[in-house]
Amino acid sequence: MKFTTIKAEDKKLILLDQTVLPETLTYNEYTDYRGVIKAIKRLEVRGAPAIGIAAAYALALASEAQVDITLEQLSKVMVDVAQEIKNARPTAVNLAWAVDRVMEKVQKYDGDSLDEYRRIFWAEGDAILKEDEKMCDAMGRHGAQLLPDEATVLTHCNAGALATGGIGTALAVFYKAKEMGKNIKVFADETRPLLQGARLTCWELMQEDIDVTLLTDNMAGYAMAQGKIDAVITGADRITKNGDVANKIGTYAVAVLAKEHGIPFYVAAPESTFDKFLESGEQIIVEQRSPGEVTEGFGKPTAPAGVKVYSPAFDITPHKLVTAYITDTGIRPGGRK
Ligand code: MRU
Repeated sequence: MKFTTIKAEDKKLILLDQTVLPETLTYNEYTDYRGVIKAIKRLEVRGAPAIGIAAAYALALASEAQVDITLEQLSKVMVDVAQEIKNARPTAVNLAWAVDRVMEKVQKYDGDSLDEYRRIFWAEGDAILKEDEKMCDAMGRHGAQLLPDEATVLTHCNAGALATGGIGTALAVFYKAKEMGKNIKVFADETRPLLQGARLTCWELMQEDIDVTLLTDNMAGYAMAQGKIDAVITGADRITKNGDVANKIGTYAVAVLAKEHGIPFYVAAPESTFDKFLESGEQIIVEQRSPGEVTEGFGKPTAPAGVKVYSPAFDITPHKLVTAYITDTGIRPGGRK
């Protein structure tokens, strides 16, 4: 990849600011965990795996911030900090998963060194980042085998290197297919209201010389009807035990359209996105975003002042619309017959 989305260096967290792409490539440095929470909320770092990694490092930053403190006091403070970080965004399971994983690890520490205790946070953040990178490669390899030698694939939102610690989930499939010599073209939904498809997916794929065509969300149905799309691959923010998928708002509509047109609908996600507790999609908390993202998303008003706005950030695609799940451990069948 020609860019790095997230990295930790010298006890700092460095994030590529995705709010200003594709205009500007800017990196912001964080030493304060509350700054990272804000960055997660304002989508400076976004995408389920990436916010999990950022959350793990936010814990590490918080552990460094407390200076005159005993180990016992710090471990109590960290329990509250963990909850504060988990509250940043509710839908992607990877965020809570990463925080719980780090906290479980540190809670096993039975030494008496504050420095050693703090190092566990950083080491676990590094481990999550490295594992994510490997999982992305594996998803890419498995998913690429599903595609024919030539295909045009529609994707929604950004499930690429910008959303993970590696080469992405859905977009990893395109990168690996290209390495395998396949001729894959991508149609990228614009992804209103925040344009992750237009701003991020198109930018990312163009950096990597993947053939990408932008369309607005309401053009996907016609593109399918015209026979322009051979498959759909999206990422996921949470997959419940029955296979229901939370992903960026608009994914459900694309899945319905794919079924209507007999086009396979694949969901690419690492094991960390599979929720081990929730039974089905109705139990997922869907984040609601601020009305301004819909009414002033282009830097000027696009709706009358004071209009009521409905703005869920995600929707739920029932498992019966999913052809298969592309995971790091292999392909799992979906519920679509
Ligand atoms: O609101 P965002 O930009 O964080 O939403 C991201 C998505 O919905 C992605 O498709 C999902 O997190 C998968 S990322 C590999």
